[in-house]
Amino acid sequence: MKTRGCIQPQRHGDTEKGKSFSSAPLCLCGETTFAHTKARRTQPESGPSGRGNQNQKKSCQENEPNYGLTPFLHDPKTPEDKLPHPAIRPYPIQYANAWKLKNKAPVFIRPIKPEDEPLMAKFHETLSEESVYNRYFSALKLSQRVAHERLTRICFNDYDREIALVAELKVPKGEEKKILGVGRLSKQHNPGEAEFAVLVNDEWQRQGLGSELLRRLIEIGRDEKLAHLSGAILGDNHAMQHICRKVGFKVEQNGDNNSFRASYNY
Ligand SMILES: CC(C)(COP(=O)(O)OP(=O)(O)OC[C@H]1O[C@@H](n2cnc3c(N)ncnc32)[C@H](O)[C@@H]1OP(=O)(O)O)[C@@H](O)C(=O)NCCC(=O)NCCS
Repeated sequence: MKTRGCIQPQRHGDTEKGKSFSSAPLCLCGETTFAHTKARRTQPESGPSGRGNQNQKKSCQENEPNYGLTPFLHDPKTPEDKLPHPAIRPYPIQYANAWKLKNKAPVFIRPIKPEDEPLMAKFHETLSEESVYNRYFSALKLSQRVAHERLTRICFNDYDREIALVAELKVPKGEEKKILGVGRLSKQHNPGEAEFAVLVNDEWQRQGLGSELLRRLIEIGRDEKLAHLSGAILGDNHAMQHICRKVGFKVEQNGDNNSFRASYNY
């Protein structure tokens, strides 16, 4: 595999004597500069002058435009809380763990991942028109719900902005995986504000999953230092109004129309 601008790319993880990969400075092409130094040293000297082939590629740093970015090296002794945050937040594994439905079926509740797209498409096939209407406040067609563009957006979370939890049924190895429910927390423009939504596969409703997803969203909001979490509920959606009140939301009618707002203040 050739890496842009490298003389002889080294495998990631290659280390220079006594120096770990994590402490190696990164070149803009993504390789460590140790790797490039090593590559330069091991490059056979050719040509009568012994200065190497004139056509050979220059080193990464010589070739690459800098774009005003200077590769930054931190002292390996820098404490973790003093390091800058990565641009994309890593998968929030702390929100993943096992749980059991009322009927004792084991599930694994975890943040959504991009590779969940096919499972999410199947999940949407299981939903009744009533559940879809209660969730989206309209009869959103299956073809719209499973459109690739929509599902990739839904499954690929910027965890700084939103976190969707999926409840996956634990099945024996080899059996088809299944998502039973999804709960989503989406931060709003106003700092400290977020909205929630919950949707459970019709066959698996009344097993405590909707309430559990909602409880977990409240806890995520707490970790995220939210001030306020809220969601809209249709007037006829008594089950949702009931579970919201049960887990601590205040549920109030929205003006004169047939909708309610559930609010949780931290
Ligand atoms: C609302 C919803 C999330 C609830 O999920 P769930 O997994 O069935 O929820 P739970 O099993 O935790 O709890 C259901 C509770 O509602 C109660 N309930 C069910 N139908 C009800 C009804 N018509 N009226 C009043 N309460 C009802 C159940 O008795 C149960 O109460 P309990 O926990 O005190 O026993 C689920 O029905 C759903 O996905 N609906 C479609 C999507 C939706 O409405 N989303 C909300 C908009 S964001």
